[in-house]
Formats: sequence, structure tokens, C-alpha cells
Amino acid sequence: MLSHIAASFLALQLRPVPQSDAAARPATSTRVNAWTEWGTLRAVVVGHAWDAQFPPTQPGFVPAANEEGGASHLEEGEPVSSIVETSGAGAVIAEEIGWPLGPKKASTIAAANAQLDNLARVLAERGVEVSRPDRMDWSKPLSTPHFDVPNQYCTTCPRDVVATLGSIVLEATMSRRDRYFEVNSLRPHLRSLWRADKQMQWKSAPKPTMRDEMYTPSWWGLTTDERYARMHDYEFCITEEEPIFDAADIMRCGKDLFVQLSMTCNQAGIDWLSRELEPQGFRVHRVRFPYDLAPSHLDCTFVPLKPGLVLTNPERPILEEDAAIFRANGWRFVDAPQPDNPSRPWASQSSKWLSMNVLSISPTCVVAEEQETSLHTLLESEGFEVIKVPFRAVYEFGGGLHCATWDTLRDDDMDDFFPAAYGDAAGAENAPVSPEPAATEVAARLRGGGVAAAPEKTEKETETGYAGLESRADRAEWTGIKEELDEARLDIDGHPVMQRWETPYMGSLAAVATSKGGRVLEVGFGMGISASAIQAVDAVDEHLIIEANADVYSRLEDFAATARRPVTPIGPALWQDALDTVPDGSLDGILYDTYPLNKEEQHTHQFEFLRRARAKLKKGGVLTYCNLTSLGVLKGKYDSWEELFRETQLPKLIEAGWLPEEISFTTARTAPPADCEYYSHDTGLVPVLTKQ
Ligand SMILES: C[S@@+](CC[C@H](N)C(=O)[O-])C[C@H]1O[C@@H](n2cnc3c(N)ncnc32)[C@H](O)[C@@H]1O
Repeated sequence: MLSHIAASFLALQLRPVPQSDAAARPATSTRVNAWTEWGTLRAVVVGHAWDAQFPPTQPGFVPAANEEGGASHLEEGEPVSSIVETSGAGAVIAEEIGWPLGPKKASTIAAANAQLDNLARVLAERGVEVSRPDRMDWSKPLSTPHFDVPNQYCTTCPRDVVATLGSIVLEATMSRRDRYFEVNSLRPHLRSLWRADKQMQWKSAPKPTMRDEMYTPSWWGLTTDERYARMHDYEFCITEEEPIFDAADIMRCGKDLFVQLSMTCNQAGIDWLSRELEPQGFRVHRVRFPYDLAPSHLDCTFVPLKPGLVLTNPERPILEEDAAIFRANGWRFVDAPQPDNPSRPWASQSSKWLSMNVLSISPTCVVAEEQETSLHTLLESEGFEVIKVPFRAVYEFGGGLHCATWDTLRDDDMDDFFPAAYGDAAGAENAPVSPEPAATEVAARLRGGGVAAAPEKTEKETETGYAGLESRADRAEWTGIKEELDEARLDIDGHPVMQRWETPYMGSLAAVATSKGGRVLEVGFGMGISASAIQAVDAVDEHLIIEANADVYSRLEDFAATARRPVTPIGPALWQDALDTVPDGSLDGILYDTYPLNKEEQHTHQFEFLRRARAKLKKGGVLTYCNLTSLGVLKGKYDSWEELFRETQLPKLIEAGWLPEEISFTTARTAPPADCEYYSHDTGLVPVLTKQ
């Protein structure tokens, strides 16, 4: 996000957004609020399998039996643990009866319902309010002016049918005829949400005719080789005749929605979403996965887990062009492991990748299928708590844990997790939002004072952050110390210098430093995260980077060799020695993010830099800085950022020669892992110093 305050400021048109860090939880009258896939879950609808039918063949869907697969069964009155999963039924069924019609077997429905009920119970135990869809008679045939189907389907996967997008609940068009009225099982719940929450917007996308012209039935007859040959054409069983999308083709990351071009979502559907949602402040991005020959629904392919991290499918990489926004903003893609149990029920129309179809109940906790132990290990290594539940009996009914749920209330906001622009055409659409409205507002408040004194905190409340630095007389020693680097963190001299979770925050700093384009100086290369975000901004003409440590500098040289904007590495040198090589009045932006090289300068090292750096900026140039090793400690001592900034930064900035009217700040969301040594707060400071 550019900043919590700035993003919230923009979001005001949509709904009041809490301004203080403590107030991220929606107001109690709010029943609908979900901007992300990972905000702490408060209310959810869990599907059920009652009255489920076999899906009929139709132009938009040709169901097939999975030859090796079996089915799950539960006898009446037995507990969920006694579900038996058979195997090998598919070949016989396919040969003898082709594809069955009508109701699914009672014991298969019972097995699925037992696992769905168990999920509902597990979520309720975690404090999540759980609702269930109404029952409907899905055996009824449908006959419209444009099509007939002999029966409908089921309401196991509400995720496919409705999407909560902030305070909007959007009913999807749907792509299959047998799912035309599936939303009706959710409508009573929708009505009660709408009555209770006066801010909720209830929207329904135009219902398609689903007449034959909307489909290309010949697509189903293509051989695998023919599909490979047409892989990059992105032509599937639906035409562009009318807008079509299933709700599960959308993934939410705050302001940004990612929508998959697939056999259940056409370009017209994506265009419709853009036109409806962009005026409301969303940014809609098409995403494509060229190696998926039958793409449908994003949740077995591309699963955002928390800011900066997406669980990806190793067999279905995202098109590099569509990955650019993630890379520009320093997001990481982590491939899901191969499923531990890749077998599929005989009547499952989904892939083995239901294994990665997880439900996030917070940025640190996900629910996953109990047999997928490799995935559990991966998620746990990323710092997640994994709640394991049995769910394979639901696979026959179209989905996994994400599919079978529809989240209506999460603790999250319309945050901007992609503040850095990227690419040419896309850059305009995603250009960093100017920090000025919120910054000016905060600056005015800072100058006017008026912030109530904070109640005195106890010793325990103030003990946050890093206290491991030692005295060091010679700063220059830093240059020769070996770095310890892995994917997640950079340590030097045994100190935690940089960690991957800072990525979105670095994006916010980079957005400020590049807001004027031109020549941008960065001080401290670290893991190159903010450098990558700066590189993504086309308006940057030159990117100068000063770095002191020789190991880090060597990586900086590699970075410079392949960078998309011209990079001038300076070093290995302390900025104290190198800054004078930069002419006065030559810079449009500066991002300062170094590390305190001794205990004495933990809270102050930035101010000497800020004093000398002002002269380097052009008039109108902008500087931002970061010192989380200091803020991690200070934030424990102050109730608000305003107070902290006014007490600990503002006087020193004025002393360093900055005018009060040049000084302001915004804040950005942060999500440090529980074991982070130096930072434990859910927001970070983004100073904005603009030279007048
Ligand atoms: C926190 S890291 C920078 C992280 C970076 N913004 C990123 O996104 O990965 C700090 C970097 O500053 C470097 N550094 C520390 N003191 C320095 C100094 N006085 N002059 C130049 N670089 C310094 C460290 O070696 C380290 O690489």
C-alpha cells in the first residue's frame, strides 16, 4: 500500500475506514467487509452437499469420469472419522453408463456434509461466525428461452458464485447452465446481510443468456496436442459473446483484484469487472496461466496468502507479463509442493491441485487438507499456523476449502499492496498514488499540535524491538564483514539487517522516493527489495545506490548489470564518505534505508544523513527514510505515530535544516512474522520530506 492513511483517505468514498492502527477491526454494524484473501476472518458461509446432482453435459461443460478415482462414503449415524474412500470405480462407470444424471449417492453426500460440518465447527471454534446456504431442490430441470438442462448442481462451492469485494457483494454471471440459479441458495443470507449492514452494496452482474452462441463446443473435442498448440491463444469453451465470469476467478489483494482469463471467465467478463469496479477505486488486473490447458478458478493456481506472498502452482506458472506487478512490488511466489495425495474421486471435475486450495483465516493462519503434509511443512516454514482438516470427501462436489467457503467479513481495508508502478501501458494505470493529500493533512496536524498526551505506559508495554547492538568505534569495519543471506533475510555481523516481510513497506517508501521520477538516490542496498520497486518506475531516469558492505555491494553490481532503468552503484563505501560525490541540487528523490552500525546511533543515524542530503535535492525533490531498528523500539513507547513523530523525529528534522512545512508522513501496513527480532507492529512510518 502507498500508506495506510493515504489509501484510507482514498477509500473514504467507499466506506469509513478506521484511521488508527488499533481500529482495523470493522465497526460492529459492519456485516460485509473483505478486501483481501487473508484478513482475519470474522464471518463466512460454508457450503453443503445436500441434494447434490451430477452435472449434466452442456456446451460450457463436458463432465468426465476420472478412471482411477473412487468415492468417499459415510454410513448414516457414523462420525466423520469413519469416512471410507474407495478407488478404481471411474473406469467401470465411464464404460457402463458414460456420465450419470440425477442425484448423487446418499452416502457420498453424507461424507461430504460431514467434512463440511466439521469445517464449520472448526471455524466457529476459532470465533468465526458461520452460516450455511439454504437447501434447494437441484433435481429440478431448467428451461429458459435459450437453453434447457435436465437438472441443476449443488451449493457446495459458494466461492464460485459470489465475491465479497470490500463492502460489495457481487453475484457472478456464472458460466455453466446448471449453475444458473445457484445464487438463490445464498440469497436469504444476502438479504439478511443487506438489511443489517447499511453500507453493503449488493450487486449482480448481468445474467447471460447462456445460449449456444456463447460457447464453442468444439473446444471440448480438441486433443491435448491441439490444446498445447493453441496454448497462447487463450481461447476456451466460452466466446466473447457476453460477459462471463465465475466469482472464483477473482483474487483480492486490497485495492487490486486479479482476474483469470479462463474457461469460466472471458475477456468481456474482465472488462465488465474493470468498468464497474475501477470507478470505485479498485484496480482490476487480468492474469493468465499459459500452461493450464483448462483454466477455471484461481484458487488451485494462484493463492495470495499475505502481503508479499503468493502460493503458486509449479505446473501453471503465471505469464511473465502478468507477474510484472508482483515483481515490481517485491512479492514472492512460493510453489506449492506436489500433492501428497494426488488421487481424485471418480466424479471430481477438479484437478489434483485442490491440494493447494487453502482457506486463510488470518495473515498467519490457514486451513489446509489434512493429508497434504508437504504443504503443511512449507506453510509452517513460512511462519503460518496450519489448521488441518479432512476434506477429500468434498472434492467430488467441485472444490476444496477455499471453494467451499464465501468470506463475508474480514478485518482488512482497501490497502494498496502494489504501490510501485510497472511496465509502460500498465504503469499509467498503476502509477504510485501521490502521498500529498494525507501527508499535507498530517503535516498540518503536526504543526498545529493538538494531540492528546498519551497515558504513561508501563515498562512491559514499552519493551519492543531490537536491543542487540553493541558499541563500535570504527564504522568502516562494516565494509568487510561477511553477509549471511537467504531468501527470507539478510544478517550482517549477527544482526538482522533486512527481512523479506518488509517488501510491501519498502514498496511504500519507493513510491514516495520515485513520485517525482528523474534521478533517485538510494542509500543501503540490503536485499534489493526497495531497489526493485524503484526500478519498476518508468519515470526514473537514473538510480544511484550507495552501499557500504562489500558482499552486498557485489550483489548490487550484479543487480545493476541487468536492471531495466540505469543504475549507478557507488561503493563499497559509507554514505558518510560517498555522498559528496553527488552534486548539490541534482536529485529528484532519495530513499535512505541503512542500518545502525553501532548502539550509539540506533535512533539517530538518519538525522546526520538528512542534514546533508537536503542540499542534494532539487527544489520540489522528495526524501523518505526508514529506520525500523529504531521504530521497532520507539513504537512501543508512543500511542500514535503522530505523537511518536512529533516527539522523536520532528525536532531533529528541524535541527537538520528542514522547514516544518516541508515535513509530513504517512504510514503503511506491515505484517512482521511473530519471530521478527526487531519489529512487532502492524504499521510502519513513511516520512515524506519535500524540499521547497
Ligand atoms: C536495511 S538494509 C537496506 C534494505 C533495502 N532497502 C532493501 O529493500 O533490501 C541496510 C543496508 O545499508 C547498508 N549500510 C549500512 N550502513 C551504511 C552506510 N553508512 N553507508 C552505506 N550503506 C550502509 C547495509 O550494509 C545494508 O545493506
